[in-house]
Amino acid sequence: MSGTRAAAAAAAAAAATAASNDRAPHPAAAAGGGGGGLKRLRSEPGGNRVTVVLGAQWGDEGKGKVVDLLATEADLVCRCQGGNNAGHTVVVDGKEYDFHLFPSGIINTKAISLIGLRDWEKRLIISDRAHVVFDFHQAVDGLQEVQRQAQEGKNIGTTKKGIGPTYSSKAARTGLRVCDLLSDFNEFSSRFKNLAHQYKSMFPSLEVDTEGQLKKLKAYAEKIRPMVRDGVYFMYEALHGSPKKILVEGANAALLDIDFGTYPFVTSSNCTVGGVCTGLGIPPQYIGEVYGVVKAYTTRVGIGAFPTEQINEIGDLLQSRGHEWGVTTGRKRRCGWLDLVILRYAHMINGFTALALTKLDILDVLEEIKVGVAYKLGGKRIPYFPANQEILQKVEVEYETMPGWKTDTTSARKWEDLPPKAQNYIRFVENHVGVAVKWVGVGKSRESMIQLF
Ligand code: GDP
Ligand code: IMO
Ligand code: MG
Repeated sequence: MSGTRAAAAAAAAAAATAASNDRAPHPAAAAGGGGGGLKRLRSEPGGNRVTVVLGAQWGDEGKGKVVDLLATEADLVCRCQGGNNAGHTVVVDGKEYDFHLFPSGIINTKAISLIGLRDWEKRLIISDRAHVVFDFHQAVDGLQEVQRQAQEGKNIGTTKKGIGPTYSSKAARTGLRVCDLLSDFNEFSSRFKNLAHQYKSMFPSLEVDTEGQLKKLKAYAEKIRPMVRDGVYFMYEALHGSPKKILVEGANAALLDIDFGTYPFVTSSNCTVGGVCTGLGIPPQYIGEVYGVVKAYTTRVGIGAFPTEQINEIGDLLQSRGHEWGVTTGRKRRCGWLDLVILRYAHMINGFTALALTKLDILDVLEEIKVGVAYKLGGKRIPYFPANQEILQKVEVEYETMPGWKTDTTSARKWEDLPPKAQNYIRFVENHVGVAVKWVGVGKSRESMIQLF
């Protein structure tokens, strides 16, 4: 649906019932008086909890697969940030599904084989507060990359999906949201024209077929109208109404976070845990499990420092064995050893409650495996992950070398099936990050995810 991709496709809203009646008795009075009758805000153990799945590296860790696994237990699967820059591949019954904007959990229904557009429409809810990515945002993304290359001799290597320009419009308060698209179309048209005009004055080569775009947008508005809800009220109901299990599918990853990532070589949203609260209107105390998804080695798409990158036969082997091609852009992913410095850093920000370690099977053929355990500058260990990219480019990585297990793990289905050297690798990661590994991935399918506890 080019033209109306919602930048932050979020879950949204059942009718606004709660908090709308200003004559309702005070909750304490309703409960028979006394503060004890007030509904506790913090979720009770076993009560409504939000489970979050986040990327702990530079993306493509296998978040889609973990979400697919957890979605069978969830009532609601939400995306909260980013847009169709994400590419999540899920393999079910040998069939591969690629998701960009829709939550991967959408395939987990009773009728997987019957999914057609009608089905998607019935099960997809779009927040009225989601920002709309226009075609010109996407065109500007490309033009900005050309400009960066010309001015600075390098670009970011964005996915060219319009993410940066849309978040810029949002921050400049000139963006347009789904609620605007569905309200007064004359008002929407005039704001759309102003925004297009602003971009055209910044990029004279930009061509916008304003009338053609508006015609398309009007048709899209009617198509999505039945799916749009007030996201805040919908989420409130989901948290407080009949028990609902909510699963949040993070996109992108910690090191791509606009604030905590390897800025400026990052995306434009908060892909760390805070993005869940700001993207969905969920109070932090409702968040329960925060699962960090970690690839057993490291990959990165696009430009930017990558301390453990292997531009050699090891990198080539990881790339080809791991089929490391971007799902969204088809670019080759850069590959390197696992970096525990970035994992500890990602954990500091996200507070992971457990990890999913994916693609362990890709390491099956290696004689020895290196793991980055610390960074050094000028020969001295530094106890932090540098914020400045020029400094990060200069760090030397201290590695620990572990013996490879040289055994096929793809048919392992429980901990005991894994070779002891692979078990050591997993325990090493747990000990260095300080978080337990709950799942180990040894293949693409749902079944090839070993659950450890
Ligand atoms: P996401 O963006 O984090 O959802 O990850 P992607 O889908 O972009 O990239 C992960 C890729 O690795 C996908 O093609 C998955 O099917 C695949 N994958 C996930 N887990 C495993 C695993 O444990 N072993 C192997 N061999 N492939 C996996
Ligand atoms: P998933 O959800 C890997 C990277 C791009 C680029 C930078 C900025 O599949 O893990 P953008 O288009 O967002 O402005 O690009 O961020 N990037 C990703 N890399 N996986 C992703 O998502 C990514 N989303 C953005 O390659 O370097
Ligand atoms: Mg991906």
